[in-house]
Amino acid sequence: PHHHHHHQHQSGSTQNPVSSRSLSTRRELYERDFPVYKQPVEVGCFSLDSERRFFNDRRQMRYYVEPDRNPNFDLRDGYKHRYVKRDDGVKEKLDHILSWIVANRSKHNSSATTASSRALDADFVTWRGHLTKLLTTPYETREGWLLAVTKFRGTLYISELETEAARREQENRTERHEEMTYWGYKFEQYTCADDPHSLPDPSGVVNTNEAFCTVVQTRLADHRLLFSGEVDCRDKDPDAPAAPACYIELKTSAEICTPKQRSNFHRFKLLKWWAQSFLPGVPRVVAGFRDHEGVVVSLETFHVSKISHLIKNEYNCWKPTVCMNFCCDFLSFVKHVATEDNPGVVYLFSWEPRRDVTFSVHRDSHYSFLPQWYIEGMTG
Ligand code: A3P
Ligand code: MG
Ligand code: MG
Repeated sequence: PHHHHHHQHQSGSTQNPVSSRSLSTRRELYERDFPVYKQPVEVGCFSLDSERRFFNDRRQMRYYVEPDRNPNFDLRDGYKHRYVKRDDGVKEKLDHILSWIVANRSKHNSSATTASSRALDADFVTWRGHLTKLLTTPYETREGWLLAVTKFRGTLYISELETEAARREQENRTERHEEMTYWGYKFEQYTCADDPHSLPDPSGVVNTNEAFCTVVQTRLADHRLLFSGEVDCRDKDPDAPAAPACYIELKTSAEICTPKQRSNFHRFKLLKWWAQSFLPGVPRVVAGFRDHEGVVVSLETFHVSKISHLIKNEYNCWKPTVCMNFCCDFLSFVKHVATEDNPGVVYLFSWEPRRDVTFSVHRDSHYSFLPQWYIEGMTG
């Protein structure tokens, strides 16, 4: 709609409901007031164990232990011999979130809606990571995405599909790249303990099947969202604020040595870090800066609410409001397009850099992603 309505945007009038076959991703169209984004509330959580089994509890929660001022973490330690890598050939889609919904069904089945056709108190159910991709879309120049949407009992479920380009990239990953993926998880092991009174154990195995996920509820303009995201660790102080405010996101990044590197860090990395943590209301990112040999040489805490101020001096830099308004308009577009309430119907939204978002419709195809156990669990 937007490419047909530039003037409307500039005059500041509110945008009409989407009525087009495509959605523009041009940044200028989304530079308006920041939309309402309610403080996310944690409504539950779940854990995935070392074999990727689901548990409706906090057993995989980890506790942040502030390292020395001069850390010397060797992120290469244990690669190969103390590394169990999750099988990324297994496409889990929304299954873990759906398991959580079924396990906590009574909580959502509010009395006002039990008799109605709406099963959940949300317009959208998805992974935080899918929303992160939407937030960064107006600034993304390399990787497109494919999002499958199904409407079931009034709620729109959004699940990502791997693009052909991503599959090829995955296949052509170098050994160096493979090892560098390990580094991020190894950093978590150096800084996290399994309980609030113990210390990290860097001699253990890094197993990327393990995860602790928060489930949050919030609202973006008139879109009620229920989503889940992995949380790296929490503040171990029992008096820390309630979740999600006690959560801490851990990141590694290459040491910054030149103004050019600093600028790139602000323009590209901080955008991704901000989007990922802002969505679930995680207030802090602890970054470990590493050299080319994979040794963490310094640490820095980034307050998510201050990231947008940090970047303001960059020329032509990203803006949080563009990210949020694009996401909001995409969700409106989805509501307009995906109208048939049927678990066998998939609306496939696809985007490639420098293009508009387009969609196609698929009935009883291999794209269907809501499992029978979920449909029965929510209908019975
Ligand atoms: P870093 O981000 O420190 O490099 P997360 O930061 O989201 O908790 O993810 C933990 C680690 O998983 C990352 O650590 C990185 O090593 C790996 N990882 C996350 N997303 C990835 C992606 N899209 N491709 C490759 N590795 C990824
Ligand atoms: Mg993580
Ligand atoms: Mg992390």
